[in-house]
Amino acid sequence: MRVRFLGTAAGGGLPQWNCACTGCTLARRTGVGRTQDCLAITGDGSAWYLVNASPDLRTQLVHAPELAPGPGLRDTPLRGVLFTSAELDHTLGVLTLREAASLDIYATAPVRSALEGPFPAGPILSGYTTVKWHEVVPGQPVALDGGLTVTGVTLGAKRPRYAAGLPGEDWVVAYRFVDPATGGVFGYAPCLAQWSDAFASVIEGADAVVLDGTFMYDDEMTRETGLPGRPASSMGHLPIEQTLGKLPSGTLFLYTHLNNTNPVARPGAPELSRVTEAGAQIAADGQVLEL
Ligand code: MLT
Ligand code: MN
Ligand code: ZN
Repeated sequence: MRVRFLGTAAGGGLPQWNCACTGCTLARRTGVGRTQDCLAITGDGSAWYLVNASPDLRTQLVHAPELAPGPGLRDTPLRGVLFTSAELDHTLGVLTLREAASLDIYATAPVRSALEGPFPAGPILSGYTTVKWHEVVPGQPVALDGGLTVTGVTLGAKRPRYAAGLPGEDWVVAYRFVDPATGGVFGYAPCLAQWSDAFASVIEGADAVVLDGTFMYDDEMTRETGLPGRPASSMGHLPIEQTLGKLPSGTLFLYTHLNNTNPVARPGAPELSRVTEAGAQIAADGQVLEL
């Protein structure tokens, strides 16, 4: 299987339009930033799936050579979209796909309820294309075009703020992709609140796992902005400093969904040595993995 990181920043991106923090100012000055978290994955190199649809999706697709259309006028290698959550930074871009002839969307029941309710992306898209919903039932493998199978694993029940009143448990999932042709196993968990048994099951036997790198430090918002801020853990994001010591050997770990306050989102940051010493990586926009 092949995985392409389309974007690696948390909501807002790097730089964020209204932020003058150290990281955003540096990104603006150097022109080196990050687009919002999203990836593309394929088993056979022809049938591709998006995992999440970031607000930066159009630019991300235009810069991904494997996702270029053709040879027919409206042929596209894109077969569908899987959501790990209903958060706006993971879903807003789905409206960008309205030109598709049809659109296959894979989501848990609670995520679908948000996308047909308070953020009615599904009903809006239905005015432009044919939307086909596929329910992701955690623990039940789903076969994708191109040979991959994927299983959702529930990581938490944190709802987006706009969907605060909605019921359900499976609001945040990881995906575990298996390629029967190569034996490759890939895990994707951009939002991780606890190092749970469920997350351990995503890691078990995986060649590579992409995990939540939103914050380096639990007190990062205060540390980096000087303003009173909530701890990372209270926002549903286990900070990197609390996961680095837990990474088992034998699996490549890459951090994604980096907030603009995160020092390891910046090229050459001294804190990067802590990540590399643990054998892990900070994912980069455009990076490709072959498993
Ligand atoms: C999160 O990752 O916690 C959310 O995407 C926050 C947000 O709404 O930007
Ligand atoms: Mn987010
Ligand atoms: Zn900033």
